[in-house]
Amino acid sequence: MHQSSLIANIALDRRHDMPLYRQLYGEIRKAILGGQMLPGMQLPPSREFCLALDISRQTVLNAYDQLLAEGYLRGSVGQGTFVNEDLPAQVQTRKFRDVQVADSVVAEEQRGLSQRGRRHIDPRGSTRFHEGPVRAFRVSMPDLGLFPFDVWARLEARHCRHHKGQLGYGDPAGYRPLRELLAVYLKAARGVNCTPAQILITSGSQQALYLLSTMLLDVGEQAWVESPCYRGTTAALHAAQAQMCPVPVDAEGMDIAYAAGHFPDAKLVFVTPSHQMPLGMTMSLQRRMALLEWAQQNAAWIVEDDYDSEYRFGSSPLASLQSLDTRQCVIYVGTLSKVLFPGLRLGYMVLPETLREPLIQGKSVIDKHTAVMPQMVLADFIAEGHFGRHIKRTRKIYAERQACLVNCLRRVLDDELECGAQDGGLDLAVYFKKSRDEERIIQAGLALGLELRGLSHYVGIPGQVGKAAGHPSGLLLGFAALDVAEIERSVMLLASVFNNDQGFTHTA
Ligand SMILES: Cc1ncc(COP(=O)(O)O)c(C=O)c1O
Repeated sequence: MHQSSLIANIALDRRHDMPLYRQLYGEIRKAILGGQMLPGMQLPPSREFCLALDISRQTVLNAYDQLLAEGYLRGSVGQGTFVNEDLPAQVQTRKFRDVQVADSVVAEEQRGLSQRGRRHIDPRGSTRFHEGPVRAFRVSMPDLGLFPFDVWARLEARHCRHHKGQLGYGDPAGYRPLRELLAVYLKAARGVNCTPAQILITSGSQQALYLLSTMLLDVGEQAWVESPCYRGTTAALHAAQAQMCPVPVDAEGMDIAYAAGHFPDAKLVFVTPSHQMPLGMTMSLQRRMALLEWAQQNAAWIVEDDYDSEYRFGSSPLASLQSLDTRQCVIYVGTLSKVLFPGLRLGYMVLPETLREPLIQGKSVIDKHTAVMPQMVLADFIAEGHFGRHIKRTRKIYAERQACLVNCLRRVLDDELECGAQDGGLDLAVYFKKSRDEERIIQAGLALGLELRGLSHYVGIPGQVGKAAGHPSGLLLGFAALDVAEIERSVMLLASVFNNDQGFTHTA
């Protein structure tokens, strides 16, 4: 089958419950299993699918991702995506009967699941996890080699020896001494105004996003999200059957006037004002005040996801939104994943008084409470000064690493990449200066051992209202977990990816 006849034979049903990317995935798989697409054949560029089927590029990329992950396709350096030659022989010889089986596999995956359940398995709404050893340029990853695990182990051993009966079922809100210490820390570091009773410890901030999405929104109610947006947020909202309203971001962060004009009925706003995920800009004070005013007038909640504000390089951070809130409409969310390590799974919310009891009840329905031992160890880690020292040390090192990355990129990739905001964080957004196929760059990087994340990963919101704003094409490069030598080496590899790439091409 020729590439163009593959597209012509594909029919997508927009009224069907099954997401479009999943339908596209099923259609391509059917063509491979049915022998219409033979091993080694090249698939059309994603843009041709978009034009012919009137679907977003993210829909095509999601379908390709799934087929690549399952081994039906392979990507190769600078040459696009091909049907895998290494498909098992029995797959290659399957004909019509098996094609029907393939169709039913898709349906079967969803059989027995509720509407809500289906939304939890929809990869467009799902988050990704890190697989294999850390390599350049994994995103959102602190350097675990810098963490004082010896100190952590000593504190943990002490609690194991002298636990004084504290390891039974605990307080669903979290370990009280930890909440007291966090209240003091958040006041000093972020100006957050709260009592320890307003703090709810969660199993990572992802659990906070899930609890807030499910407990504050009814099915079909609207939430503003930044466009582009962190996938953990859209996954939680998608699972909660909310309607997402994508709001463009610019140099000042979320465009509040646009959002208020287009989505006046929203009940909830998810925002990353300190360091927009993934583009990295800081929300201006004017926008912060406008957002607070809108939320107060419209009785909406604002979720302030302050996921990596500890890592601010150079200028000091603007005060948190929560500290400017006079009407208790901001819910402040934080995580220990960046500042300590992601596998710890500790996060927290600072709740307005009226939400305190309901959210604690909701949390206890999910998992009774977060594991007590890590909370006890963390409390000691903070009280004995290790926490403050670790932040200070890593902030300095990460700032040096970011500077090294920016310098290397300017030296060898200045024609190709423009560096985005550099105020802080663990990742740097870079924009393509020329027309490039993001997916092809990612696949070519992979072949050289680079882990690249395209900015399009953060757009294409499932079930969104209205159109997503055009978004810049580029990459998000994690630098914090890489030492300077590794950064220099990896930028050279990245340069060879661009040198070997032909630019964006249309193939018939
Ligand atoms: C915007 C944002 N929020 C929160 C998190 C952290 O999530 P968790 O606390 O569940 O590890 C991340 C991690 O990448 C993030 O990028």
